[in-house]
Amino acid sequence: MGKRIGILILSIIIISCSAKSSDSNKVDGNTKLETKIDDLVANMTIEEKIGQLTLRGTSSRVKGALPDSLKQAVREGKIGAFLNVMNLDYVNELQQIAVEESPKGIPLMFSRDVIHGFKTIFPIPLGLAASWDAETAKNSARVSAVEVSSVGVRWTFSPMLDIARDSRWGRIAESPGEDPFLASVLAKAYVQGYQGDSLNNHTSLAACAKHFIGYGAAIGGRDYNTAIISEPLLRNVYLPPFAAAVNAGAQTIMTSFNEVNGVPASGNTFILDTVLRDELKFDGFVVSDWESVTEMINHGYAADEKHAAELAVNAGLDMEMTSKSYEKYIKVLIEEGKISEDQINFLVKNILRVKFKLGLFETPYVPKNHNGDLYAEDHLNKAEDAAVKSSVLLKNNDILPLKRNVKVAVIGPLASKPHEQLGTWTFDGDETHTVTPIDAFKKSSVNYDFVEGLSYSRDNSTKNFNAAIAAAKASDVILFFGGEEAILSGEAHSRSNTNLPGAQEDLIKALAKTGKPIVLIIMAGRPISISNIINDVDAVLMAWHPGTMGGIAIEKIIFGDAEPGGRLPVTWPITAGQSPIFYNHKSTGRPPKAESFVQMDSIKVGAWQSSLGNTSHYLDIGYEPQFPFGYGLSYTTFEYSDLKLSQNTISNDETLTVSATITNMGNREGEEVVQFYIQDVVGSITRPVRELKGFERILLKSGASQEVTFKISAQDLKFVNNTMKYVVEPGLFNVWIASNASTGLKTSFNYK
Ligand code: GLC
Repeated sequence: MGKRIGILILSIIIISCSAKSSDSNKVDGNTKLETKIDDLVANMTIEEKIGQLTLRGTSSRVKGALPDSLKQAVREGKIGAFLNVMNLDYVNELQQIAVEESPKGIPLMFSRDVIHGFKTIFPIPLGLAASWDAETAKNSARVSAVEVSSVGVRWTFSPMLDIARDSRWGRIAESPGEDPFLASVLAKAYVQGYQGDSLNNHTSLAACAKHFIGYGAAIGGRDYNTAIISEPLLRNVYLPPFAAAVNAGAQTIMTSFNEVNGVPASGNTFILDTVLRDELKFDGFVVSDWESVTEMINHGYAADEKHAAELAVNAGLDMEMTSKSYEKYIKVLIEEGKISEDQINFLVKNILRVKFKLGLFETPYVPKNHNGDLYAEDHLNKAEDAAVKSSVLLKNNDILPLKRNVKVAVIGPLASKPHEQLGTWTFDGDETHTVTPIDAFKKSSVNYDFVEGLSYSRDNSTKNFNAAIAAAKASDVILFFGGEEAILSGEAHSRSNTNLPGAQEDLIKALAKTGKPIVLIIMAGRPISISNIINDVDAVLMAWHPGTMGGIAIEKIIFGDAEPGGRLPVTWPITAGQSPIFYNHKSTGRPPKAESFVQMDSIKVGAWQSSLGNTSHYLDIGYEPQFPFGYGLSYTTFEYSDLKLSQNTISNDETLTVSATITNMGNREGEEVVQFYIQDVVGSITRPVRELKGFERILLKSGASQEVTFKISAQDLKFVNNTMKYVVEPGLFNVWIASNASTGLKTSFNYK
């Protein structure tokens, strides 16, 4: 039986108008712990309290002795946590000062961005999302936690749970994709992986669900930009992954850089108190993003640093990352009555609660025998498996898998780039451990000739084209490794044009003239617009930035020892001009269809202005994406048949089952990600044309069939309407069991 991700009961997003919450209903009922925390806070000075609210940034490249001023600040209890102290000696030295010399002996927390691996690097998170596999995501988190905790880090700024609908946005690379259901499944898996079975284990990390909230909705895909999101959209699309993370026990949340409907997240009482504390009952702590508290001045929301501190404290932001408004102004703000010491106590308690749960008071130091098993075989195997499951086969004109006796011309700027292959947010990944495709070809004695043709992804020089063409002519097949250098996606790296950079398209077109078949393997941090060359290549494999073991995974896929297991977690646009583009869009009053599509060149010169009968599409590229959400080929084919409903109507708490039979029609075993979608046809607010509500990865031998069943109840039909009520409304619902968001077996039922 496959791994069933049945109907995930998304966290009940309780819409409450409750009065401002008090301490008592915020904690998880552990009164013994709360008493300990209360007693500790009751004996702390205001300076010591402010210290706990302070996250000091450092550079992981700092060398030599730690500055005495830093050690003295710790000694006086003026710092509660550090970011980027990546030297165990430094960690132990600072921790010893905090625990043994500071007034209250409160241990420090050490943090790092371990997003998809510490030393053993997994595919970028968008790639992990393409695995549609909770276990794969959990493996990445667990291996990261075991490895990085060996250098004293017990808090990671991951998972990033920003729904991303725009491939221009650089941080789509770090995202769980465009769908709230898939993102929620991954959120739970990541939190479980990072935090382990018990938080106080020395290999457990406090997870940090980020960036709260709506960061991926930045206008134009321009990082840090404005997010204008209606409250129903915020609750129906952007909030569920964070609710899932909180329900899975995530201990920390990070605020996003962006404003949410005019109020920057770091000073936003509605999202930080009403939604996070009162509705989701979050009892961990909220940390700002890097200087996002004082960036409220740039936003035009805070007049100065003192005002920024006042806004953030009163909104419920517990810890300030790297900017210093809290340590400078909290004391005077209390004296001026602009913030209360009660509120400061509340913030401090949230932080101490996490430190206690991590076991830092009992065990502040890394056990001597904990070496993190860096690059352990099990870690590398899990990273390789993740790279296989994440790779998405987008096109295959029966060219893949290759036979091992072929002569291959390996061309392109990314076939042997150990650093680029690791992708964004891999500060600690060691590229000397990367297995590139060329390394893998060497190991498996593939008969290949390697001529890059371009030396890096942005290279515009054609001086090596002839050498590449000559190698192509002398081969049976061309493997073109193209895409983006790691630095072309990630934070602050959005692109308005998402085509292959440099002269890659020119080189592909020149190679196509040789008549040799071309397999394009893309390493990139986003869907790449390949419409200019899609007809010049015979196969396309999206490997994302596949991490340490990416070369092995790609080699196994290319030669058929493994099959590409991925399915798209984002809609793949024809061109960036289509962005934002996503499957769970609204129908509109003029939904596009083939018969109403007006192709630009079909319009007569001087044509009379007319729009009647026209629908929502682009004159030049129409209305379909290059590839739909959920799409991915395998090395066999699957037939969907025999769609069945257990009944045609349900009401109240009845459950309906929907099933279909999936048959492997090919001559080799294969995995399929069977997807379950619904549509609420008529609603009190317009509803998406499809919504993912379940999926199951199944493995079928050649010729085998399996019935796949999904259960659905009123709970799964609920949405937040315009009065912010979480409701299910009577009416017709369409359902699909499908292989992607643009196809599938369809039927309907009524909810009464
Ligand atoms: C960055 C990122 C955030 C990261 C933090 C600490 O600016 O926005 O995701 O965790 O700073 O490195």
